Amino acid sequence: MKRICFVCHGNICRSPMAEFIMKKLVKDAGLEGEFYIVSRATHTDEIWNGEGSHIYPPAQAQMNKKGIPFDSEKRATLLEKSDYNKYDLFIGMDRENMRCMQKILGADKENKIKKLLDYTERGGNVSDPWYTRNFDEAYSDILCGCTALLGYLTN
Ligand code: 4NP
Repeated sequence: MKRICFVCHGNICRSPMAEFIMKKLVKDAGLEGEFYIVSRATHTDEIWNGEGSHIYPPAQAQMNKKGIPFDSEKRATLLEKSDYNKYDLFIGMDRENMRCMQKILGADKENKIKKLLDYTERGGNVSDPWYTRNFDEAYSDILCGCTALLGYLTN
């Protein structure tokens, strides 16, 4: 069982899209029983008095458009230091996420902290639709990364 935690700033756009795209890829590959997949935030911007926001509506619309099933009840939750032992991989979307994951999780003794597009040949950062408003581009980056990640984990 591979336990994967996708991570972004708010856990309302990029990491939930990665979570549900990866769940779909895994299911389509017949590997549902072999993966446990979640997503978390590095910041509390979308957590109000302990209650996280739902997935951002344009991100929900993007997944609906692409036929990606998702949990419309999912709420943003914060990454915590104690998560380090609960997952095998922490996969950030950009360099800021990498810095923040290192700060929250501490010394990465087991080399679990990764950046999604580092699994692809192009590398770089997932485009951030919070600022670009381009959910097509973010979706395409994340699909590319998750496809490469699944290939890496199953080859
Ligand atoms: P996400 O998008 O990290 O992809 O969920 C963001 C959501 C909220 C904020 C930034 C990015 N924010 O600053 O509130």
